[in-house]
Amino acid sequence: AARAVVVVAAGSGTRLGIGTAKAFVPVAGELMLARALRTLFTLAEPTTVVVVAPADRLDECRALVAAVAGAAVGYTAVVPGGADRHASVQAGLAVLPDSVQAVLVHDAARCLTPASQFERVFAAVASGSVGALPDGRADADGLGVGVVPALPVVDTVKRVEGDRVVGTVDRSALVGVQTPQGFPLAGLRRAYALAEQAETDDAGVFQAAGGTVRTVAGDADAFKITTRWDLGRAEALVAERAA
Ligand code: CTP
Ligand code: MG
Repeated sequence: AARAVVVVAAGSGTRLGIGTAKAFVPVAGELMLARALRTLFTLAEPTTVVVVAPADRLDECRALVAAVAGAAVGYTAVVPGGADRHASVQAGLAVLPDSVQAVLVHDAARCLTPASQFERVFAAVASGSVGALPDGRADADGLGVGVVPALPVVDTVKRVEGDRVVGTVDRSALVGVQTPQGFPLAGLRRAYALAEQAETDDAGVFQAAGGTVRTVAGDADAFKITTRWDLGRAEALVAERAA
């Protein structure tokens, strides 16, 4: 397939505090990773899927991918993750076939992200052709254009020094970003090869290497399950979708 999604699912879920790798925690009866994958296998175009899993759960993860994929065809691979998200993303990028043009990197922990968000990011990557920037300038570094789903920041944001407020940040110039984040595969691989420090944000790695990043609309349902509160929110959302 010309399109691929790398799902990073190798984290330990420390903040959730359940004692199980987060991707293997059930959300209203279905594992977080299974929910994330189920959406991928409904996408309109054939999509290569790579899952980056905890090293001690590879077999379990392969069985889960096979069960969720069912009759859906396409290349899938399950590979062990690294010590941090940065290393896990690199492990996933390493096994993608070179025929892949656009790659999306997605957090398994954003397991309720709607298919429409994947399609929106793929479409934006495809339209930001390699070699030219959206405004027509030449793309000197040739990394191409990356795409992040973003939502406005709703809270009032203050800058602080210790507990002392030193100012209010102009919220209109800020967004919160989600996943999947999309890139031309060659450009993202090059950016990761050039990275001098580990980052948890793929667009940050891409931009540090000289790539251009644009935003598309995010979706509230693409929130990341980090804490118990988020897990409760996810379960409420599943119940709401079923009603
Ligand atoms: N991730 C990964 N490999 C790591 C660390 C994180 O693949 N070494 C993945 C997680 O599985 C998750 C995504 O990156 O899907 C976002 O990370 P985060 O929400 O921080 O998950 P955890 O690292 O598992 O959680 P915590 O930081 O609370 O331990
Ligand atoms: Mg983490």
